[in-house]
Amino acid sequence: MSILSLQSLSLDYAEAGTRQKRRVLDGINLHIASDEFVIVIGRSGSGKTSLLNLAAGFTEPSEGRVSVDGKEIDGPGADRAVVFQDDALYPWLSAVGNVAFPLKLQGIARAERQSHAEELLAKVGLEGAGHKNIWELSGGMRQRVGIARALASGPRFLLLDEPLGALDALTRSRMQKFLLEVWAGSKTSALLITHSIDEALLLATRVIVLAPNPGRIVADVRTEFGKALLDGKSVKEIKMFAAFKSLHDELTALIHGDEEEIAA
Ligand SMILES: Nc1ncnc2c1ncn2[C@@H]1O[C@H](COP(=O)(O)OP(=O)(O)O)[C@@H](O)[C@H]1O
Ligand SMILES: [Mg+2]
Repeated sequence: MSILSLQSLSLDYAEAGTRQKRRVLDGINLHIASDEFVIVIGRSGSGKTSLLNLAAGFTEPSEGRVSVDGKEIDGPGADRAVVFQDDALYPWLSAVGNVAFPLKLQGIARAERQSHAEELLAKVGLEGAGHKNIWELSGGMRQRVGIARALASGPRFLLLDEPLGALDALTRSRMQKFLLEVWAGSKTSALLITHSIDEALLLATRVIVLAPNPGRIVADVRTEFGKALLDGKSVKEIKMFAAFKSLHDELTALIHGDEEEIAA
């Protein structure tokens, strides 16, 4: 079992045009084990993307350390794959070509990478669609290709920054279940960022709430509604659970509670 650890992490950004620094994340402690689906939720500007960029190794913390199994990371690595909201697929490559691309970079032979990429496409529900051009795919299908591509290097952690944010409501809801199934069927743990409370509650085994100014963790709650979804309960049924409603209310208050005050 692998553990991705963010320890005593703080991040400062330089204020534009000044010599001053602004603290964007403060004292973050988060340990993610390989069987977890951790969702980070918080208002816009609370530092969610900054947190993911640190975990991915795209940026370095101002204080603290990021490690995988106790070893400090020194940048991006094949053990952590990242999926963004508007993930750019390579338009000159077919769907299968996109998924096989990271394998090509790893020096894997053509026939082998082709067959592995086909397997991954099947895993994300795109069996037989490998030959399609990127522009022939719907938004949901593109995100599936992006996720298959992220899985290609066999990462231990899948880091997703609002991956479903650009999809229409119906596709988004289908993709939520799909993501849950991919996670359940792989040995990859997930760290997903969203600002949808429903999405967090439906998918996560653990919900982390970030409060802004500076970004800090104000709640760390275990949830198990995803299990009900995987067991075939409908989203509608799950949302009627008393436990779902009360946790939804709690998270709403925590994330948006002082908004009226700000408006007043
Ligand atoms: N590269 C950067 N330089 C300076 N400030 C930044 C940079 N990236 C983000 N910020 C600021 O840091 C804060 C947190 O941003 P971000 O991590 O994108 O939050 P979120 O993803 O929760 O919306 C915001 O106030 C944002 O304006
Ligand atoms: Mg963001």
